[in-house]
Amino acid sequence: MQVPLLDLKKQFEQIRDEVMPAINKVCQDQALCLGPAVDKFEKEVASYCESKYAIGVSSGTDALLVALMALDIKPGDEIIVPAFTFVATTGAVARVGAVPVFVDIDEKTFNIDPAKIEEKITAKTRAIIPVHLFGQLADMKPIMDIAKKHNLSVIEDAAQSIGASQDGIKCGNFGDFGCFSFYPTKNLGAFGDGGLVTTNDASLENLTKMVRNHGQNATYEYQIIGGNFRLDGIQGAVLSVKLNYLDQWSNKRRENADFYNEAFADLDLETPYIAKNNHSIYNQYTIKCEKRDQLQAHLRKNEVGCGVYYPFPLHLQKCFAHLNYKEGDLPLTDKVCKEVLSLPIAPELTVDQRDFVVETVRTFFK
Ligand SMILES: Cc1ncc(COP(=O)(O)O)c(C=O)c1O
Repeated sequence: MQVPLLDLKKQFEQIRDEVMPAINKVCQDQALCLGPAVDKFEKEVASYCESKYAIGVSSGTDALLVALMALDIKPGDEIIVPAFTFVATTGAVARVGAVPVFVDIDEKTFNIDPAKIEEKITAKTRAIIPVHLFGQLADMKPIMDIAKKHNLSVIEDAAQSIGASQDGIKCGNFGDFGCFSFYPTKNLGAFGDGGLVTTNDASLENLTKMVRNHGQNATYEYQIIGGNFRLDGIQGAVLSVKLNYLDQWSNKRRENADFYNEAFADLDLETPYIAKNNHSIYNQYTIKCEKRDQLQAHLRKNEVGCGVYYPFPLHLQKCFAHLNYKEGDLPLTDKVCKEVLSLPIAPELTVDQRDFVVETVRTFFK
């Protein structure tokens, strides 16, 4: 039996009858860049995220870049980031000329370890970017305490975590900004690229909207340097339709995760640890296994989709070689890169497919 890691064609069939007329309407109106469909989606998603403001942008990567530009992060500023994340988190920092300062993770949650942040703060530090990896929030209370104490901005990289919460507060509402991705593999995926910036601060919303559209506040009047970070009308229309399914889909992911947790309990692997005060949306179901490479080969041989997020830590990537990090600087990050493996968790997974994943994993350990 073939089990893909993700089957977006199946998801499309489920919503085709709603999504195609919505796309058709944008085509008829030819409101292609921002426009009414994006306005509508922004209102709906702000309400969903329980944030005052939501600004649709061109991608999750650009959401981070826009947030950094809105905060006027300058060359030489230092930004605290984890090294166990997708490259966009740190690439955005480098693109504004700032310096990513890497901090190790909590091995259990995969998220930045707040206890290791303060030792990295210098007079140049301007912001912290905690990443809510795989659908679970980073430990925000100590992070916000440190940020307040040192007068730092906080940009939450919530690209993988829309709808996730901690102590009942949805991600994006702890820091100055929440940055979300609508890349198709996310729990809420566009039909192409898309992203979102959320904030609860009216002046930051204003700045973000300016940055999104070349720094203009009125036609051909440019207040600051911005760019073209606009969300397409078609994506707004698609995302409005899909948003209605998001909780249902994320609940199904949680159900699949519970099933796996129980089925794998006696095996020599670690199932995902979700902190008690966290509500995860399981963008990934990521186990840890010392024999990861062999397990991955076994799953592939049996046509079970799986993926390694992420095989190489960012502080050791060639693009950051000038920062002079070496192996062992972030030992837990190095370690998990060798052990993580993500299994199929998507809501479209059938009961038979889920059983087959369990059976295939179990035969590896026999
Ligand atoms: C943690 C994280 N940050 C940022 C991004 C960038 O989002 P996008 O792919 O929409 O540019 C992603 C998406 O893959 C991500 O997983």
